[in-house]
Amino acid sequence: MDVFRLGLFLLITVAGVSAELQPLNAAVLRGSEARFNCSRTLTSSVMTWTVNGVLVVTITEASGVLNPTERFSVTNFTTPGNYKWEFTIRNVQRNDTEVGCQLTNEGIQRATLSVQERGSVEIVGGNQTKAEGAQADFQCRAVGWFPEPSMSWSVNGAEQSCNRSSVTEGSVFNSSCTLTVTAIRNSSVQCLVTIPALLTPESNTAFLTVNKITKRDQTVLIAITVAFSAAALLFLIIYGIVFFCLRRKKKSGYQEEIKRAQVQAQNRTPASQNVRGRDNRGYITDGHDGHTTDGVWFTNFNRPQNLDEFFEEGPRKHRHMTLV
Ligand SMILES: *[C@@H]1O[C@H](CO)[C@@H](O)[C@H](O)[C@H]1NC(C)=O
Ligand SMILES: *[C@@H]1O[C@H](CO)[C@@H](O)[C@H](O)[C@H]1NC(C)=O
Ligand SMILES: *[C@@H]1O[C@H](CO)[C@@H](O)[C@H](O)[C@H]1NC(C)=O
Ligand SMILES: *[C@@H]1O[C@H](CO)[C@@H](O)[C@H](O)[C@H]1NC(C)=O
Ligand SMILES: *[C@@H]1O[C@H](CO)[C@@H](O)[C@H](O)[C@H]1NC(C)=O
Ligand SMILES: *[C@@H]1O[C@H](CO)[C@@H](O)[C@H](O)[C@H]1NC(C)=O
Repeated sequence: MDVFRLGLFLLITVAGVSAELQPLNAAVLRGSEARFNCSRTLTSSVMTWTVNGVLVVTITEASGVLNPTERFSVTNFTTPGNYKWEFTIRNVQRNDTEVGCQLTNEGIQRATLSVQERGSVEIVGGNQTKAEGAQADFQCRAVGWFPEPSMSWSVNGAEQSCNRSSVTEGSVFNSSCTLTVTAIRNSSVQCLVTIPALLTPESNTAFLTVNKITKRDQTVLIAITVAFSAAALLFLIIYGIVFFCLRRKKKSGYQEEIKRAQVQAQNRTPASQNVRGRDNRGYITDGHDGHTTDGVWFTNFNRPQNLDEFFEEGPRKHRHMTLV
């Protein structure tokens, strides 16, 4: 236990005495600012700042800040018991890669600086209009990024991974990735590109407009079918009428001929030899007997005796049963 306490005490003491540089890794965009704090519990007579091993600022208790420039500057954040200075590099360049802070009689503390490049994001071809069910390919091009950026898609807010490929020319990357969407509904297709130095990704959005062409085609098809059917039906009706009329004309001509022939025949044969039932005018079912299905023929004049097989009472009215 005592050994542990002693170790803890020593650790705290050592940590307190040696300078602390914060942060140890910084990712910033080229052209922006980078800031670092160097501090320790005890005041130091001299603090120096280096960039890529080159001394840029010196701070002494006696003379204050020596040789600050527009690009390299420091701010006093010292409070009682905490000797602290903040170092700022403005307009950082790609070759600003290492920052060092050194206190009197101490080793140098180093931090790495990652200067990154924000490029552009473009969706090649932009907005697209596709027939429903077709495939739409969107290509996102990220030009001029460093380091190689992370890319992703967001289709109607849902993230989709991206099969990225990159080429580098000198110090920046051109990356691209392709997304294939099936045109089902109108969609927004967003390409997101980011690097560690960016808090929010750069993006570009294209819209996919889905044409319900298939539906319209169906409508057109239905319309055509209906029109053709109607035309066919009309033709059939007209044809039917014409055919019917022709036939009727022919038939009536034939019937007239028959009639004429009959009339001639009648003129030659006596009327008494008329065909049985020729003069029957009406026919009713027998109202008296519900069980019988026999038909009853009324004759309006006296028929030849041999044909009247059944007589009922009633002098003027003869009833003559005939099986139907
Ligand atoms: C440095 O310390 C000061 C005071 O504690 C703080 O306001 C500032 O944000 C710090 N800077 C960095 C880069 O951490
Ligand atoms: C830094 O600030 C502290 C506290 O305000 C002050 O005592 C000290 O003199 C300042 N150092 C310089 C070099 O201005
Ligand atoms: C895509 O469509 C959106 C909204 O309809 C419009 O604001 C934008 O300008 C279009 N983009 C291109 C490249 O035509
Ligand atoms: C990514 O692209 C490469 C080459 O274009 C291909 O071989 C690979 O299958 C693709 N991967 C996915 C997940 O699409
Ligand atoms: C990256 O894209 C830019 C703009 O399209 C082009 O000028 C440049 O040559 C490309 N670089 C590579 C390595 O393809
Ligand atoms: C997509 O939008 C267009 C125009 O805003 C509209 O005419 C079309 O019907 C829409 N398509 C779908 C599938 O909603």
